[in-house]
Amino acid sequence: MPKIRTIRTRAEMDQRYYDLLVRMIRSQGYRELAAATVFAEALHLVPGVDLKRKVVTHIDEEMQHFEACCTLYDALDAGDLDQHCSSMLREQRPIPAITSFMELGVAQLLYDRASAYQLREYENSSYDPYCRIVGKILEEEEGHESFGAEIMLEFCRTPEQRTNTQRYFNKWLAVSLRSFGRPHSPGNAYAIDVGLKTRDSAAVAQDYLDSLKTIMRVSGLVFPDRPCLMTAGTETSPDVDLSL
Ligand SMILES: [Fe+2]
Ligand SMILES: [Fe+2]
Repeated sequence: MPKIRTIRTRAEMDQRYYDLLVRMIRSQGYRELAAATVFAEALHLVPGVDLKRKVVTHIDEEMQHFEACCTLYDALDAGDLDQHCSSMLREQRPIPAITSFMELGVAQLLYDRASAYQLREYENSSYDPYCRIVGKILEEEEGHESFGAEIMLEFCRTPEQRTNTQRYFNKWLAVSLRSFGRPHSPGNAYAIDVGLKTRDSAAVAQDYLDSLKTIMRVSGLVFPDRPCLMTAGTETSPDVDLSL
């Protein structure tokens, strides 16, 4: 395997590397701004001032993650990331609204954990400025996820609650899985070759799904089946294992 070269500036990249890196930062920027937006819009559903304050801290952290992406994008002279992601969220890929405090917990666990699993791929990115922002973001995402996990567990205590929570679990799992991108694509293989990530999207998505199994067993939730995910607009590759 050829040694992967560390890259620090645009001048060191060829066009293909540049285009892919820009796309990756754009996707992460979208996910960060989507998280900040959906949690901000749900603030009125959070019970009590203390918990609201905590969610505001998470929103602020998501904004800092988004700003870090904007800084990377600027350094690459790639355009206006804020304008791009804001219009994506308004027009092309709106993030579904959260309708209850329970759903906020489910979304924080599933969406933030998906984001963290993707970011872990960039911890040793061949683009050095990317590696430098990932550590802090990952630490904060862990806080968001565990907050979400606590809420989700709380809303799985009775069979009635569990049935309701399962509906929202299905919804946010579908949204989260979509963020992993197409598996086994030529872009994936190239990204691995040049060290922009280490594994194919399918392997990362599988790790993400496996990581949910413990909390799912404890809370009595199950994975939705493929047709159910398909109805929610998410196609899963046949090699993805959805068994518990
Ligand atoms: Fe984030
Ligand atoms: Fe987060």
